[in-house]
Amino acid sequence: MKDIEPHSLSADDWDELNFPRPEEQEFDRVVERALSRRGFLGGIIAFGSGASALGLGVLKGSTALAGAGRFAFEGIPAATDATVHVPEGYAWKVLVRWGDPLFGDAVGDFDDATGGSADKADRVFGENTDGMEHFVIDGREVIAVNHEYANRRVNLPQAAEGRPRGADDVAKLQKLQGVSIFEIRQGSDGWEVVLDSPLNRRITHLTPMRISGPAAGDELMRTAADPTGTVCLGTFNNCGSGRTPWGTFLTCEENFNGYFGASGDFAVDGLAAEGYRRYGIAPEGWGYDYHKWDARFDVTQEPNEPHRAGWVVEIDPADPQSTPVKRTALGRFKHENAAVVLAPDGRVVVYMGDDERGEFLYKFVSSGAYGPGVDTSTLLDEGQLYAARFEDDGTGRWLALTPEATGMSPAQIAIFTRMAASRVGATTMDRPEWVAVNPAAVEAYCALTNNRNRGVRTNAGGDWQRVGGPNPRKINNFGQIVRWRPAGDDHAAESFAWDLYVMCGNPAVSEGPYRGTANITVGNMFNSPDCMMFDTTGLLWIQTDGDDSNEGEFAGQGNNQMLAGDPVTGEIRRFLTGPRGCEVTGLTWSADRRTMFVGIQHPDAPFPDGAGRLPRSSIIAIWREDGRPLG
Ligand code: FEO
Ligand code: CA
Ligand code: CA
Ligand code: CA
Repeated sequence: MKDIEPHSLSADDWDELNFPRPEEQEFDRVVERALSRRGFLGGIIAFGSGASALGLGVLKGSTALAGAGRFAFEGIPAATDATVHVPEGYAWKVLVRWGDPLFGDAVGDFDDATGGSADKADRVFGENTDGMEHFVIDGREVIAVNHEYANRRVNLPQAAEGRPRGADDVAKLQKLQGVSIFEIRQGSDGWEVVLDSPLNRRITHLTPMRISGPAAGDELMRTAADPTGTVCLGTFNNCGSGRTPWGTFLTCEENFNGYFGASGDFAVDGLAAEGYRRYGIAPEGWGYDYHKWDARFDVTQEPNEPHRAGWVVEIDPADPQSTPVKRTALGRFKHENAAVVLAPDGRVVVYMGDDERGEFLYKFVSSGAYGPGVDTSTLLDEGQLYAARFEDDGTGRWLALTPEATGMSPAQIAIFTRMAASRVGATTMDRPEWVAVNPAAVEAYCALTNNRNRGVRTNAGGDWQRVGGPNPRKINNFGQIVRWRPAGDDHAAESFAWDLYVMCGNPAVSEGPYRGTANITVGNMFNSPDCMMFDTTGLLWIQTDGDDSNEGEFAGQGNNQMLAGDPVTGEIRRFLTGPRGCEVTGLTWSADRRTMFVGIQHPDAPFPDGAGRLPRSSIIAIWREDGRPLG
């Protein structure tokens, strides 16, 4: 990251930087501004300390499902052990683990000594399960799920430090990541994968894709292998997910930069060189070493290849022969997920976070409207991309990323979206992770997972990370969830009102703002909200990817977990604790809502097979013992 450049700061920011205000004073000013919004807010959540109160309340109208009995379970205690815990009256089992076969020809390929062969790595359930969606296709129940990155030491147990020893190891890693699509059914022992279902499919770092939208064909997208700039291989670092009303799966490319390296000098200049800095293309990459064995990932030889990653990719789970499409109109950044909702006039609205410290929250609004019989093949190719600006008074605006506003061409805006958003003055955020849209009220929520650089330094583009608005804490190690309600109850509107649903903290050991909002208690505390999904009853399920040391300011919070939040009352209860070292990420339900599927990513503990075995990222099935629906 660059040092702060004075010329890039506003007068206020420059002043704040040189004459920093005491933390409490700045926070109190934010509180004052928030409190002045009482006319908008339906309630006030006070800080437990009683010293101050922030207008973190309930958006009016979110009362559709208000009332007692929202939670069907008692919250469970934090845990630090090596397995999964769920509340009394619920049970769980593993549905599928990294290395389990999706196709008959891979049965028996996995063993703990090798972590499976390179040859079969794309015939098995991949590594690091993440965002997932459930589909019903011709009466079959199907899960589409992301495989975010590789745990090289675990996936290549015979390679020192997990560094690939050659092209075979690289190919294995490339095949273990991407997406799995597979059919499930109820067997004699509960839910199971249907081996060799005609719908089963693996999509990897090597799968042919099409590029559509404003960046397609641009000079910056062309490579030696693809002089047209319209076709590419692979989808990368597939993090969060989304789904369209027309039944396609959206996979979101997050930390794509880590796969690229350089054998020599960078062969870019101008905007592209600025892009390398902004998106973190580095000579050594993140240790995958693809560039040493596969020239496509060597940016000295293929300087435009990184421009072909960092997108939202649309996949049709009903057609295993279909070509995935990179939808460049949705912008290029470190995409977390894609939350799709229709505006009242049928236009498609896609909310998206860019998960890096001080990056932005985005929204795409399609030009065309969705409806019965509409051709959906180009709906996500034409429309307006916006970045969010939040004001301290509880209002906000979506800033259109147009050529006029940014001085960039449509293709440049698509490829260097971060730079376009900086130019229009979007609000730097505390790492926007998942966005979830409430089905019971016209509002959306975004997990701002944490940001140790808030109030300390700029983002990678030189934008100061001001303390205030929805990012009210300097050195924010706990995270918070912001929500907004669009003007006129229309998600396509350009203005909105916002508040904070929760600020995480630790009421046992921390004071003031770091204790968290009053809906955080010693009994439900957590840090670093990440994946979020609403269920059909309007409960917000929150999964965490945080510090599970259980020490210091995180004492008492235990392993990563899943909680349920009531948007109306603010109450939050802990539903699940994961095994040590894991992140809980990915959530969907069976068609009858009687089973919930939850992702357990990168456990450190030897989950689920026990001592002496490799830890294996897994999807688990959870059900109520009385057989009733759970969401
Ligand atoms: Fe892949 Fe930002 O989580
Ligand atoms: Ca995540
Ligand atoms: Ca995270
Ligand atoms: Ca993760």
